[in-house]
Amino acid sequence: MEIEQDIRLTDKDVDEALMVVTSSKQLQDVKMKFLGKTGRISELMKCMRDVIAEKKREVGQMLNELRVRTEDKFNVLNEKFKKKELEERYASETIDVTMPGKKSESGSFHPNTLVRGELISIFSGMGFEVFEGPEIENDYYNFTALNTPADHPARDMQDTFYLSPELLLRTQTSAGQIRVMENKKPPIKILSPGKVYRSDDDATHSPMFSQMEGLVVDKGITLCDLKGMLDEFAKKVFGDDVKTRLRPSYFPFTEPSVEVDVSCFECGGKGCRLCKGTGWIEVLGAGMVNRRVLEGCDIDPDKYSGFAFGMGIERIAMLKYGINNMKLLFEGDVRFLKQFKD
Ligand code: PHE
Repeated sequence: MEIEQDIRLTDKDVDEALMVVTSSKQLQDVKMKFLGKTGRISELMKCMRDVIAEKKREVGQMLNELRVRTEDKFNVLNEKFKKKELEERYASETIDVTMPGKKSESGSFHPNTLVRGELISIFSGMGFEVFEGPEIENDYYNFTALNTPADHPARDMQDTFYLSPELLLRTQTSAGQIRVMENKKPPIKILSPGKVYRSDDDATHSPMFSQMEGLVVDKGITLCDLKGMLDEFAKKVFGDDVKTRLRPSYFPFTEPSVEVDVSCFECGGKGCRLCKGTGWIEVLGAGMVNRRVLEGCDIDPDKYSGFAFGMGIERIAMLKYGINNMKLLFEGDVRFLKQFKD
């Protein structure tokens, strides 16, 4: 075929190809076919070297015109498509401000988590560090080292889930006291939150619940330090008007042992349903660390003394939020849980 004819045919083919193009993307593909490195027009340019000398000028001009004309056609169409596509995009991205918004549900913390967080924050403000012991304990840490040998009647206070004669689910976070004192010498100031287990189940007891343990050991620690710290804790958790009182009690690992009451924050001490008419609410157990427990951990009880306390996190949550059945804390009912926002 004569090259001139080929040029004319290419010109026509360009027009035909452009007629069916509907987007700038397609346009780009067609452009490559004709003007790309191996496109038809570029191929024609390469044929120039075979054209005889007399015709070179004329064919060269034809080819050049074809290239310029083709580029122009593409440019014009490209402008057109770009404009149209932009308009379409704007149209599709228009926001209808009258549409109702999407509501995103926000979660809330479990009351237990709230109370645990609050307690940690209060006590870490007084210099306590958090230590978490294991939930599966051996008899030694849960009982023996806490001055509760095998035949000790105090073992009956806590109905234990045994996994084997040696291993059990810890009945109290007090087990962690021993682990801390074995590994660290005074001054000790730790807070130990965690789950504990007892074979017990009613409206105010659950086979699994959570405790928060505290332990302070140093030179010259007295019951007054315990009382002062508990006053501070009670005011922060239950309100500034709340008072505390200590009642004598018994735990094998503390001597003396006390039960700690707070004045009823519901009736201010006059007596109501919450405090069962007494004006006082029991919140935790505590005492001075028994000499025998210190000795067992190689801490000299003539040099050092300490206090410990332990409270039920669910119990504090129930009192604080007025929850009357402990089961509510374990059922995971969203209708109940979503009421507790920080
Ligand atoms: N461990 C005791 C209980 O579970 C509470 C307690 C802790 C008492 C520390 C005294 C000191 O009942």
